[in-house]
Amino acid sequence: MGKNLTVGPPLPGRGLHVTCLAVMLLCGLHLTVTLLYYLDVHVYTGLMVRRVGSLLAKEGLSIAANNTGPSSTAAPGRSRSPPLRLQPCPETSPHLVGPLKIEFSQLVSLEGAKKINPLVREGGRFTPVECTALQKVAIIIPFRNRLQHLNYWLYYLHPILQRQQLDYGVYVINQHGEDTFNRAKLLNVGFTEALKEYDYNCFVFSDVDLIPMDDRNIYKCYSQPRHLAVSMDKFGFRLPYNQYFGGISALSREQHEKINGFPNDYWGWGGEDDDIYNRIVFKGMSISRPSNGIGKCRMIRHDRDKNNAPNPQRFNRIARTRQTMEHDGLNSLKYKVLEVKKYPLYTYVDVDIGGPGRPPSG
Ligand code: BGC
Repeated sequence: MGKNLTVGPPLPGRGLHVTCLAVMLLCGLHLTVTLLYYLDVHVYTGLMVRRVGSLLAKEGLSIAANNTGPSSTAAPGRSRSPPLRLQPCPETSPHLVGPLKIEFSQLVSLEGAKKINPLVREGGRFTPVECTALQKVAIIIPFRNRLQHLNYWLYYLHPILQRQQLDYGVYVINQHGEDTFNRAKLLNVGFTEALKEYDYNCFVFSDVDLIPMDDRNIYKCYSQPRHLAVSMDKFGFRLPYNQYFGGISALSREQHEKINGFPNDYWGWGGEDDDIYNRIVFKGMSISRPSNGIGKCRMIRHDRDKNNAPNPQRFNRIARTRQTMEHDGLNSLKYKVLEVKKYPLYTYVDVDIGGPGRPPSG
């Protein structure tokens, strides 16, 4: 009798066996990957929530669902690099909480602001990781000697901007020296310097002492230049006049370039925002605004700054915007950057912009 050399089932049966094994292996692999992903997301999120929670607790704050009080400082997101293919962020962020309690009774330190914003990258940069932001926003703050105000601004604004799902960076443009302050020229410098770092397509120009009281007042750009500080406590929560464009405004790169930027020649307090309003209207655009309720803002009270007295020439200048705007603006901007420093919550640009009748050094 010859040996039976057959060690397995006949060939068709063996094929089935191999297929079954392969399917089982695939299922096992799938289950393992799903489990690993699940564990990763939950363990990581848990760690982040606990970390932010303990940081807030140290600050005497808490993460809560309601939006009364500093709990509204909580921000969404994870600090890891985003997955490769993200959906665009929704038109309205799901993280918004609405009205906010803004107060200045307790001093805020830079450390305190840093602790509650662990997801902000060096230089004050943030990019949502759950979706691709709809706009790249540079926030430009003209500055001199207002550190305490800046701390409040960073403390309140970073969580709001993160909840708004913006890809943003914060630029503090410091006027070096003691010459008369020039807000609009510093804003032009901020626009130009921010563009050297990133392909921003929207610019929000904000005073350092203004904090929005509702996170539905989105720091982004619209089809028309946007005015955000529409109802300030300082003005009894109303517009002081219809053409008012001061405090906080947002212009897309195209809108800003269309009006040749802002005037460089308003030294001292007042008028430059009216000039900007004129430029916008003369170029055929209009102003977009949020409602009075959503556009509420608090201003940090302060004494008048040194070297920023009301500009007596402002009325004459405003009357001539139509002529001056063609040659005074981005196309005539001259300045010298003395230092660019990356802090955890903002990029600091120290700049010599000259003074009335004095060109910048260098
Ligand atoms: C000034 C503006 C200022 C406004 C509100 C106007 O007279 O020209 O620059 O923003 O008052 O204070």
